[in-house]
Amino acid sequence: MKNKETSKYVCTECGSISPVWLGKCPVCSKFGTLVEEVVSTTTTVKTTVATPKKLSEIEYKTYERTSSGISEFDTVLGGGIVPSSIVLIGGDPGIGKSTILTQISGYLSKDKKVLYVSAEESLSQVKLRCDRLGIFSDNLMVVNECKLESIEILANDYDFIVIDSIQAVYLESLSGSSGSVGQVKECASRLMRLAKNNNKTIFIIGHVTKDGNIAGPKVLEHIMDTVLYFEGEPSDTYKILRAVKNRFGSAQEVGVFEMTEKGIKGITDYNGIFISETRGSQAGSIVTPSISGNRCMPVEIQSLLSKTVFGLPRRMPIGVDYNKLVLIIAILERKAYLPFFNQDVYLNAMSGIKLSEPSIDLAVALSLASSSKNIAIDKNITAFGELGLSGEVRGVTFAEKRVADSIKYGFEKIIIPKRNYDACKKYNDKIEIIPVSYLSQAIKYLFGDKTENN
Ligand code: TYD
Ligand code: MG
Repeated sequence: MKNKETSKYVCTECGSISPVWLGKCPVCSKFGTLVEEVVSTTTTVKTTVATPKKLSEIEYKTYERTSSGISEFDTVLGGGIVPSSIVLIGGDPGIGKSTILTQISGYLSKDKKVLYVSAEESLSQVKLRCDRLGIFSDNLMVVNECKLESIEILANDYDFIVIDSIQAVYLESLSGSSGSVGQVKECASRLMRLAKNNNKTIFIIGHVTKDGNIAGPKVLEHIMDTVLYFEGEPSDTYKILRAVKNRFGSAQEVGVFEMTEKGIKGITDYNGIFISETRGSQAGSIVTPSISGNRCMPVEIQSLLSKTVFGLPRRMPIGVDYNKLVLIIAILERKAYLPFFNQDVYLNAMSGIKLSEPSIDLAVALSLASSSKNIAIDKNITAFGELGLSGEVRGVTFAEKRVADSIKYGFEKIIIPKRNYDACKKYNDKIEIIPVSYLSQAIKYLFGDKTENN
């Protein structure tokens, strides 16, 4: 069987095919959407057909998971590394992707054959990192190779392969430069086939580009078994690794890591990481029990208002969606009569964590109300609940867990949606529960009729 590889150019917008690269798609008229793909023309085609099976005939495949040596990383993966899986780790440059995978490679190389393909850095740079991390294993093999065809040949002798990074490797048969959408997509599919057909476990590092995607559009996610992203900025003290897709576990799991002198360390006690000691002394901060995967973490939300000097007021959220903030401000203006039209609003979820759950709405609103009234909220109060446009507080999932964990972290009062009260009232003797149906009730409870606008 002889393969001849040629290229075609496919429009990412409309799917039309062109034999040559064009700046503008002739079909949909969009610019810069043509991406190179390899066409393999096989001279003899042999089609194999899979036999359909009844559900009762299908046997469960049990995965012998391997520990990565970092328990927090195992948790994010859903309980360890699944053999023959392909995992993508994305994040901003400098956040710690190479560090964590070097540590894992070092650990795995104790009894497995591991190949670290460093396409970005020289071998001496990798050695320097290993020295810092205290990895002196002679079983960890490192190679400086960018050509995917060569990597495929090298991979034959190893069980675990790390590709650092996907943007730096390229297929010689494709003409696009490394890091282009066509190259990244094609290289990733070839690696996926390598993992599945030859029972290799592959970790791929991918840099997130300016607009938050890996290699431009999120071209790789559907190819991968598991996609993990490092959230936040490289300068943040804590690094949050979130699973956004996982065929072998929860897709919302997060792990919290700290970069130390001797590499990345998992953190298991979240107390005090996402909340500050000084909260309660200043207006604008409140804690909300936030759920990620199987765990609940208390996260402090802080807000600051400043008088708009010129033009339109600014809304600047960090860790919370911009549209959510704008919506909650509108609810507060209309339903709680708090003025924000002449105030710049800055909102921050502590330590760079991203909060996307609807349950944070109530805490965001109360933080803003506290800033607007300039009255601090007691540091022992937490709140959760989703807000509707009419100012109603809707029930959320995992209410019991949120209350139970708030007790665990030592909070004394919790404001919850009335809808969730029945499920949570068993905790009444351990924590004071304040059920509310409307945002205005929560505001009245916290601030009474006091207003100290300035
Ligand atoms: P790196 O893992 O190379 O980031 P990425 O591969 O995501 O681009 O490095 C992250 C940063 O961590 C880098 O600025 C150096 C620092 N660092 C430590 O603080 N401690 C260490 O033990 C190591 C190896 C790196
Ligand atoms: Mg790196």
